[in-house]
Amino acid sequence: MANLAAIEFVYWLERLLMSELEKMETELVQLTKQLAEFLSLPPTERSIPGFAKIWRPISRYRVKLRTALQDHGSILSDPRYRDAKGSEIQQRVGYNAAHTRLRLWPRIEDMVNRQITPEAKRLMPQPTEYMDGAHNRYVNHIYAALHTLALPSAEAMLNLISDAHPDIALPATHFEALVHAAYRICLAQGRTTPPRFLDVGCGGGTKIWAALPYFPDASGLENNPTQVQVGAAAMAKINAPAECIIEADARRFFDYSSYDVIYFYQPLKDPDGLREMEDQILEQARPGTILIAPYAAFSAAEGDLRCSRIAPSIYVAGIAPSQTEKLCARAEMIGTDAPEHSNSFDAALGYWRPVVDASRRNGYTL
Ligand SMILES: C[S@@+](CC[C@H](N)C(=O)[O-])C[C@H]1O[C@@H](n2cnc3c(N)ncnc32)[C@H](O)[C@@H]1O
Repeated sequence: MANLAAIEFVYWLERLLMSELEKMETELVQLTKQLAEFLSLPPTERSIPGFAKIWRPISRYRVKLRTALQDHGSILSDPRYRDAKGSEIQQRVGYNAAHTRLRLWPRIEDMVNRQITPEAKRLMPQPTEYMDGAHNRYVNHIYAALHTLALPSAEAMLNLISDAHPDIALPATHFEALVHAAYRICLAQGRTTPPRFLDVGCGGGTKIWAALPYFPDASGLENNPTQVQVGAAAMAKINAPAECIIEADARRFFDYSSYDVIYFYQPLKDPDGLREMEDQILEQARPGTILIAPYAAFSAAEGDLRCSRIAPSIYVAGIAPSQTEKLCARAEMIGTDAPEHSNSFDAALGYWRPVVDASRRNGYTL
């Protein structure tokens, strides 16, 4: 009888500690929301004293949560508690999740600290930074193989459409620098929906694949049917989004306005055809659309009222150069962390969620 009472007591104590823990975490959400609001201020309005005022009450919870979790942990490992419930899995899952959030503390602090007085970083690095050195050369070597694997055989290539450029790929590290810059511009634009990316003349689709970490909604246009077939099969093998290669002629495509980032690496060798394609893109692109055109012959490179240059090889459609300058200044203040997408990680963030979301919008991740 006495044993049963002791078991009941341990069980009751566990519930009490759990509700204490939940109460503390709920209180913390109010404070982390304030921190998220602080991080959503323009960088010039963030200050160290402003941050300290918000962070101090948050950090008091760190000690309280650690103590509560230690107490809770000892109850969960008490054999009488296990006897009472038979299975304590649910409680342990809750306990582990709370522990994970507590362990995130130093990483959160570091991520937030980097945003208090951030420094401007230019949108495109110097070419030597993305082309030179063993690491860049190695990545480009591996990418070249992926590119070749997604090409039709030499025999099938004999049927190439005559005015098309053979599928010469832009090196992967150059492409990464361009899409990362475009991603930072998108964040600076404060878009509310995920940007849609399009590779015009996508060949085997490997640049669609390479864009996915920055733009999960990515697709490409290709007019060579054999290339579409081979590329689609290659993309399916690596689980790229279904139907991501659209068979269409870039000069007669009338849906450019559905995209937010349009990349074209001189798909046509005939200058008139190339101009026709560029005109379609420039006519249809919505204001604010980011155009990535890494080739010297781009007709708007020397100035075109329909777009203005924001960084080397990157243009913004439909806005005045003065607006583009302001956008560039905002984009240069966006952090350079690569985006992260993990639904299971996000689900466990709890009270940190508002801070992590606000940081992602600023280009910072854990
Ligand atoms: C230079 S490669 C593309 C390379 C790839 N986008 C990259 O950045 O690495 C050119 C591709 O554009 C395709 N292309 C040429 N003319 C086209 C057109 N009018 N419409 C759509 N695709 C075209 C070619 O078949 C070829 O696969």
